[in-house]
Amino acid sequence: MTESSYVLILDFGSQYTQLIARRVREASVYCEIHPFSHGVDAIQQKRPAAVILSGGPASVYGLDSPQLDPRILQQDLPVLGICYGLQAIAHVLGGTVEPAVQREYGRANLSYVNRDSVLLEGITEGALIWMSHGDKVVRLPAGFSTSASTPDTAVAAFESEDHRIAGVQFHPEVVHTPQGETIIRNFLYKIALLKPEWTMASFIQTTCREVRERVGDAHAVAALSGGVDSSVMVALLHRAIGDRLHPIFVNNGVLRKNEAEEVLSTFRDQLHIDLHYVNAADRFLAKLAGVEDPEEKRKIIGEEFIGVFEQEAAKFPNVKFLAQGTLYPDVIESVSFKGGPSATIKSHHNVGGLPDRMVLELIEPLRELFKDEVRVLGAQLGLPDSIIWRHPFPGPGLAIRVLGEVTADRVALLQEADAIAMEEIRKAGLYRDIWQAFLVLLPVRSVGVMGDERTYEYVAALRAVEATDGMTADWFKIPWEVMATISNRIINEVRGINRVVYDISSKPPSTIEWE
Ligand code: XMP
Repeated sequence: MTESSYVLILDFGSQYTQLIARRVREASVYCEIHPFSHGVDAIQQKRPAAVILSGGPASVYGLDSPQLDPRILQQDLPVLGICYGLQAIAHVLGGTVEPAVQREYGRANLSYVNRDSVLLEGITEGALIWMSHGDKVVRLPAGFSTSASTPDTAVAAFESEDHRIAGVQFHPEVVHTPQGETIIRNFLYKIALLKPEWTMASFIQTTCREVRERVGDAHAVAALSGGVDSSVMVALLHRAIGDRLHPIFVNNGVLRKNEAEEVLSTFRDQLHIDLHYVNAADRFLAKLAGVEDPEEKRKIIGEEFIGVFEQEAAKFPNVKFLAQGTLYPDVIESVSFKGGPSATIKSHHNVGGLPDRMVLELIEPLRELFKDEVRVLGAQLGLPDSIIWRHPFPGPGLAIRVLGEVTADRVALLQEADAIAMEEIRKAGLYRDIWQAFLVLLPVRSVGVMGDERTYEYVAALRAVEATDGMTADWFKIPWEVMATISNRIINEVRGINRVVYDISSKPPSTIEWE
């Protein structure tokens, strides 16, 4: 990343801040999100070529509202303010922002006021835009002119005389503003004079160089789960430091059917990466014996994993680094106006405790990327679709999908049923439309009849959800015929399950997993 190709996005608490980053990156320009309060520091440290101020739920006059530091507008940097960002610019530079009588929410049509606008170049008169605001700018700061308005908002877009500072009251980053991408590109290419240079190829090159410099001739270990993030991370680091990266894959006995074999063959045979495989299934299952409490299961699996991993990592010489597949959404320090840390709903198992315990330095080569960028990267690194498009799978695996006690038999039952469901979902062409689909084995038995015989067997629940990040989710509408096939096949082919039910709960108030 060169000095001149970096865009700083300051977050004022909008729910769309990540979308702004997405649009900028889709324009092949690198950007990062920082909290509004770190604006001046970030400018000094990172020397961005331009700044974008996000929207936010506050009012610039509010008592605790996030204030735009006036120094940010004194750096001679191009600045784009979006919604609250536009109001903050107006407020700081001496304009007037007032509460609107009514909140303007939804679609509106944009009319030009000033055809000289650089920001709106190429936008059609009457273009659909998407509004969501209470306050509005009623008097412009000196040296600014209105570029466009809507029937309800006189200042829907403004620009300074030299066009270097611009703002829009609407949201160009959302899909409901169909020409929003052009507006963001105008800001990047025509106002900030940036070039579309940030590509996956350049990312691979830069990252490999940086990792090589940092690691020197030391070695690194990594935990590979077979999921997309850790797989891409391993493929990328292998390209950087070759066999000095030691990916460790632990079979914890609660993986999906054939999962260990598939991961092994992908990495060893297709990618020629020397995967270190540890079959610790018995060890995990022994520890899980008799345990029914979901949090207890998570804790056991987390602790066992750390134990196994430490033991295996110790087998390699000169290990100074631990690599992890952390993604950008996990590292963004979001601005929260709700106050206080959010409650822990479930303790997610990851290898977070490892680097301190093992006195290792962390390498996180994906920490600047969003999930879909990781997929593009994975494809460029030669990973197969089956890994790139794999549904998320929780660290504690099937242990939190076998409700009640986890035994080898019950895990095997669930593996069989789950594999059938996945096969049918893939066959129906639904796999990629679904965020996550799986079966849950309930600790309940029900009566059935097979042939002339009475059966008394387990109930399995099919769960499929649509989501964008797993934070919220809705149940997926699998066509009846597909459900019927899945149910018939499971009941006929898996001895021990005689009833399949479908989970129609959304998150919240339910969660995606059952435990
Ligand atoms: P929930 O059930 O909290 O799941 O709605 C949201 C997403 O997180 C995954 N999940 C986990 N992942 N360790 C993980 O690595 C865990 O303990 C864990 N619990 C849930 C879940 O599969 C879904 O994608």
